Order: sequence, then C-alpha cells, then structure tokens
Amino acid sequence: MKFSRKTSLLSALTVLTSLSTTVNADCTLSSDGNYYCAQTEAVIYSNVGFSGSYLDVTNMDESSCACTQGSSTTFSGSLAPLDEEVSIHFRGPLNLKQFGVYYPSSGSSLKKRDTEEPCEEVVSTKVQHKHRRDVAVEYVEVTSTVWVDSNGNPVTGSATASATSYTQVSTIVSKAGTTTTGGAATTTASTASSASTSVGSVSSGDWVRGSYFTPGSTTNCTFMNHMGGSAGSGVWSSCFGNSISYAAADGVSGASSAYALDDITLKSGEEYMIFSGEECSGDDCGYYRENIPAYHGFSGKDKIFVFEFQMPSDTDGSAYNQDMPAIWLLNAKIPRTLQYGNADCSCWESGCGEMDLFEILSAGSDKLISHVHDGQGGGSQDYFQRPVSSTLKAAVIFHGEDQTIHVVEVDDDFGSTLSSSTVTGWLNQAGSAAALP
Ligand SMILES: *[C@@H]1O[C@H](CO)[C@@H](O)[C@H](O)[C@H]1NC(C)=O
Repeated sequence: MKFSRKTSLLSALTVLTSLSTTVNADCTLSSDGNYYCAQTEAVIYSNVGFSGSYLDVTNMDESSCACTQGSSTTFSGSLAPLDEEVSIHFRGPLNLKQFGVYYPSSGSSLKKRDTEEPCEEVVSTKVQHKHRRDVAVEYVEVTSTVWVDSNGNPVTGSATASATSYTQVSTIVSKAGTTTTGGAATTTASTASSASTSVGSVSSGDWVRGSYFTPGSTTNCTFMNHMGGSAGSGVWSSCFGNSISYAAADGVSGASSAYALDDITLKSGEEYMIFSGEECSGDDCGYYRENIPAYHGFSGKDKIFVFEFQMPSDTDGSAYNQDMPAIWLLNAKIPRTLQYGNADCSCWESGCGEMDLFEILSAGSDKLISHVHDGQGGGSQDYFQRPVSSTLKAAVIFHGEDQTIHVVEVDDDFGSTLSSSTVTGWLNQAGSAAALP
C-alpha cells in the first residue's frame, strides 16, 4: 500500500506462501496477477502479535537529505506492533460517510473515557490557490515531510507557508450531536475547550466512541494530507518534499488548521489520513519531522474502528493508482516522518506495521483485499465486494484478549456507544480465516 509496487510483490509472495498451507480449490489467479478466492463478509486474523523490533527514525536532515535511524525499538505481546498508534489512510475513488473509534468502557479507563471533548471543526472552505511544489525525490509521487525539534516540542503551523486565502466557518460539535455555526475559526481541534459530559448509561462491557466523523462535522479526528509547506501548515524541502498538513474540507487542499471533511469523493490517486484530535506533546509521539502538525494516532490492544464508505468507479483517467481505492492503517510514526520516499526516513521497511483493511489491488477491480504487512505478514485472498454504487459499513475489531483482529461487514448504527452484545455479535460472525504465522 505504501509503496504500491513493492506491496504487489509482497502480496504475490504471501499468496504463494498462504496457498501452500490453505489451498482452496476456488481460488483463481486473476489476470492482474493476484489470487482471489471467495467473496466474504468477514476476515478474521488470528495469532496477531509477536516479539520483534523495528528501527525508529531519530533525525531527518533537511539539507543533506540524510535520515538517521536509532537502535531498534522492541515490541511484544498481543497484536504487536499493531497495538501501537496507527493513523487511518484513504485513497480514492472514495467517499467516506462515517468513521469512528471506540474503546472499552470497562475497568479503570471508564472515568477517562466518560468525558468527551467537543472539537471545534470547520466547514465550508474555499481554497483559492492550490500550490504544490515539485518533489525532488526520485521514487516519490507524493512525499510527506518530517522534522523534529531537538527538545521534542511540537511546532504547529508554518510561518513560511505560502499565502493561501480561504474562508472558515467554525462548527462546534456538541456531545448531543447538535452543531453551532460560528465565526472564523482560529483554534484547532486540540485546542477546543474540553467539557466533561456524562455518557449516561454505559454498562461494563460496552464500548464508548472516542472519535467520530460524518461529513461536515467531526469529534476528536484530525484530517491530514500531504500539502505541507504550501497551504498554511507543515513544511516542504527539496529533500523530503511536502510534509503532512491539515487537510481542507475538500480533502485534497491543505489548510492552516483542522477541518472536518465535506461530503466529498476523492479522485483516483488522491489520499488523506485521519489522526486523533490530540496533539503530540513533548516526547510522547517520538521523533517526527520538524514543523509539522503532529497528532497522536489510535493505540491500544482493544479498539474498534468503524467505517461507512463508497468506492465509486473512476475509469477515465490515468492517475497513478487509477481506480484503486483503499483504506489502510499505518504505524502513525510513518506519516509523521516520511510516508513516501527514502526508506531510511520511516520505520515502515523495518516493520513497524501496516494493515490494509480494504484494498483494490488492480485498476477497476471490484475485490477488496485485506492484508497485514509487518514482521508477521499475512492475510486472506478472500475478498469483500467493493461498494461501487452504495455504501459499505464495516467494523474492525482489535481484540487483544485472544490475539485476533476481525474485519467485518456490519449493519448496525455507529452511535455514541456500542453495546457488548453488538460487539460480541461482530466477533462471532463467521468469516475467512487469516492466521498469521
Ligand atoms: C481522542 O482520541 C484519542 C486517541 O484515540 C484518545 O486517546 C482520547 O482519549 C480521545 N479523547 C477523548 C476526549 O475522547
């Protein structure tokens, strides 16, 4: 996913490996070079997590273009390293109708998750100039930036960004889901005032929504893309190209503060990503490229991501990754350093973790494949039907207790809580097995 060509190779190799253990007579080698087996409504990963290590980036030199990687960072335990902070990535053609993140309400975490922070978000952008500089890194189509301050302090905004004019209208999203439209926004999601709001009748075993997006409003989500240095946030350098930046409401322009996406359809090849609304502070995100808007991802051995999306077909065009929509997770350190480019500038190659949730592997395909790329690596060649003309609702349940991750098509509403019986139902849904080695 990250490096598409490489990913295809990896996928092909993994197919060969997995076929040797789980030969399925119904699998066919498609003309796109991939094996596809049966249509499925759930892929159930098991044995997820192992003890290993990867190399963290410790410095990115914007003048020599060199990246330094430190001694190895170790991880272990259930779901590792996918229990670390992840960011959620989207590639068009795609229209996101809902996104949410839930955590268990039980135990000592109940109090903390009992409060929800209304985030200030902005709708209705009008970006006059879309200015994207050329990227001087040979194998890169789009690069993300990186920089880190020697004290580990995050620096947001960029004084050097070129001028972009836009109008902003802020919307405060309240707990009750009502919205108030106000004047020009000057704060970002993370600086909005917090409020303690009782969630109400949350029972032990229920899951509480910590982040949510639906077009025009969002709570505890920060939308980013790769327009750093050109639109009011992030940076650009000839070494590493554009860093990540706040995304404007159209998803493809940059912005100087956080926006909720509008009801937009990304075109082929276009991408955005979602972090949480919590800004990195001190050293708590590790190293990241200096002067980027740096936010935490979504961590934990128990977490649920929910999605509702459409992936319409987009056949006339010649974009890189034409008509190959995808949704995937990356270790959040990757986009905060360098998502596309010199492999020394992110922890990706050394295995800090990627999980493809729904990926079209060849232009125009209607088969969504799911796959894990880390030191364990594996997936299923069974596929979800691509939602070309209607939306698909899905839940991805990270279930640390038994080392499983369930990617499940669902029908339920994504309310402020998920009952334990709803989640149990999802966990019990039969599906295609993807046992990691
Ligand atoms: C926002 O999201 C982050 C990451 O999931 C989470 O740790 C934090 O508790 C959330 N904040 C609120 C107020 O729910």
